[in-house]
Amino acid sequence: MSQKYTVTAALPYANGPLHLGHVAGVYLPADIFVRFLRLKNEDVAFVCGSDEHGAAITLRAKKEGTTPQAIVDKYHGINKKAFSDFDISFDIYTRTSTDLHKKTAQDYFKVLNDKGSFIKKTTEQYYDEEFNQFLADRYITGTCPSCSKEGAYGDQCEKCGSDLSPTDLINPISTLSGKTPTLKETSHWFLPMDQHEAWLKEWIKEGTFEGKQLHNPKDWRNQVNGQCMSWIDGGLHPRAMTRDLDWGVKVPVEGADGKVLYVWLDAPIGYISATKEWAEKNNKDWKEYWTGDSKLVHFIGKDNIVFHAIIFPILLKEHGGFVLPDNVPAYEFLNLEGDKFSTSRNWAVWLHEFMEANPDKKDELKYVLTSIAPESKDAEFTWKEFQARINNELADVLGNFVNRAVVLSNKYFEGKVPSRGELTDVDTDVLAQLKTYPEKIEKLIRAYKLREAQAEAMNLARLGNKYLAETEPWKLAKTDMARVETIMNIALQITANLTIAFQPFLPQKASTIAEFLGLDLLKWDSLGSDALLADGHQLNKPSILISKIEDKFVEEQIATLEASKLANVETTFEPQKDETSFDDFMKMDIRVGEIISAEKVKKANKLLKLTVDTGLDKRTVVSGIAEHYSPEEVIGKKVSILMNLAPRKIRGVESQGMILMAENDKGELSFISPEKNFGAGGEIR
Ligand code: MF3
Ligand code: ZN
Repeated sequence: MSQKYTVTAALPYANGPLHLGHVAGVYLPADIFVRFLRLKNEDVAFVCGSDEHGAAITLRAKKEGTTPQAIVDKYHGINKKAFSDFDISFDIYTRTSTDLHKKTAQDYFKVLNDKGSFIKKTTEQYYDEEFNQFLADRYITGTCPSCSKEGAYGDQCEKCGSDLSPTDLINPISTLSGKTPTLKETSHWFLPMDQHEAWLKEWIKEGTFEGKQLHNPKDWRNQVNGQCMSWIDGGLHPRAMTRDLDWGVKVPVEGADGKVLYVWLDAPIGYISATKEWAEKNNKDWKEYWTGDSKLVHFIGKDNIVFHAIIFPILLKEHGGFVLPDNVPAYEFLNLEGDKFSTSRNWAVWLHEFMEANPDKKDELKYVLTSIAPESKDAEFTWKEFQARINNELADVLGNFVNRAVVLSNKYFEGKVPSRGELTDVDTDVLAQLKTYPEKIEKLIRAYKLREAQAEAMNLARLGNKYLAETEPWKLAKTDMARVETIMNIALQITANLTIAFQPFLPQKASTIAEFLGLDLLKWDSLGSDALLADGHQLNKPSILISKIEDKFVEEQIATLEASKLANVETTFEPQKDETSFDDFMKMDIRVGEIISAEKVKKANKLLKLTVDTGLDKRTVVSGIAEHYSPEEVIGKKVSILMNLAPRKIRGVESQGMILMAENDKGELSFISPEKNFGAGGEIR
């Protein structure tokens, strides 16, 4: 009986294209794992799709000056195609905007609500008066209370990974208006995570749940256990499962107008609805993949750990009738040429662009990404290493061995597999080593050590190369053809084994090698066999398996990267704001002022307290320019000052007006000063 598996890969937000960091640290390892399971004849549902809700989408729409719907349509299309071009073998790639998903998520919420799994609470939340909107999660930024990073999001600090709620932030700012928000009451459905601490702790630490051993905690990555335990030890808190937003799945109960499901409730349920959709189309029963002894495995990036190892398991348990995850292999981050992948700075290699430009290099890319996969620590992609790995390993080891085995057999035996005669020690030794590979590779894959597993597959090719180098059939061909028959038979059996060992990692190359051999693709239980090719079996003529990467290619890639970084400068500026009236504009009183004194504001490294001569008076203005200007260098500067802005207290100092600044694409600030030598007091219109 085959083992059932549901393997999920984190649903990517449809707010941008996928880059190689995403691929190396979620989608490719998931695909390798699944291809292996299928080779083992396991019964797998491999599901994924676009995550189309949440602030990630609406904020992106605002930035691009378009609608959330346009954003998700665009990126769902791009990402779905990129996955398919790259040959990620999802059984289904759906999206969370389908009716089936909405209904599944709403029904799920209702079940939990009816069971009393939520607590409805009224709390004060940040509100943007100008935009008439509550500020959930990423709509609010501020200083992280744990590590002091500025610009941390209201749900998570990207620097230290702390889980935050908006009210934890110091100096909160609305990302909509840029203003300090007010607090306003609103009601939400909270998941009382604090009530789940005990069983979660036992399940994560011991792998036991309700007295049953579900998994071995030693099989989970340290990083995953560590993050979960630090969360739990820090104390779990009730977390709102609903949001005041108009983009998302509507909360399906009375009195929830204007509220949608929290995206981290909505999206993981997307795994379930994806399985349903796939099962419906394929005449299967989705429940079999989510209940009983089916194994649930979540491939994710490390920033998703708590959502998959704590929050979603609570939701699964509360609903009842679902398995808990068997493992949550989480990946660290991949860097690019010495710098973080960054969508906003366009420092990335985009999967869809790579595939468009290099449709014949997907397995080459797979090989490199698995070789450097960030399994236990952050890793780095460089085009030089891309070239080196392909030329020195793929081409020189795998390509070279396969080529020699098939070409020599064609040359000496007209492509007919010769038979083995008496075996020497070298032969028995190489065949004995061959037999060790299935177990070695299988163990590593099941332990999610795919980097080492692929390296072992490569070692099998290395073994073949070494065997030919030692036995030198090209020399013996002049003297001892019987011996050459034996050697080439063994070399070809190893080649046939490579079509199996490489199938999970490099499916396209494995097929090509199988074509050279005139062999069908075989299942995993054939791996290790020395009798995959019968005597007299007819081989085909090989073509080139791996083309080397030229220096020119590397130079071009690096140039493209640099160029796209520059090209991006134009697009980083905010889109034009909504139209305003002349009257509204005339309400603003802006004048030329002269800074006559300046000092730092204590405990606020961004702020300067300025005294400005406005022609009318000398007034105090607090300005957030301290990271750009020292107090000494601003004294005497002519600046533009908004005079009639309502006075505000900032860090205990009353600020009477605002200094206007220009900002460039690098985030540098400059005063706006009259180009002629004007005195203080001149009006700006
Ligand atoms: N969209 C999220 C991200 O990109 C991942 C969602 S995974 C799911 O970080 F479980 F919620 F589906
Ligand atoms: Zn932090």
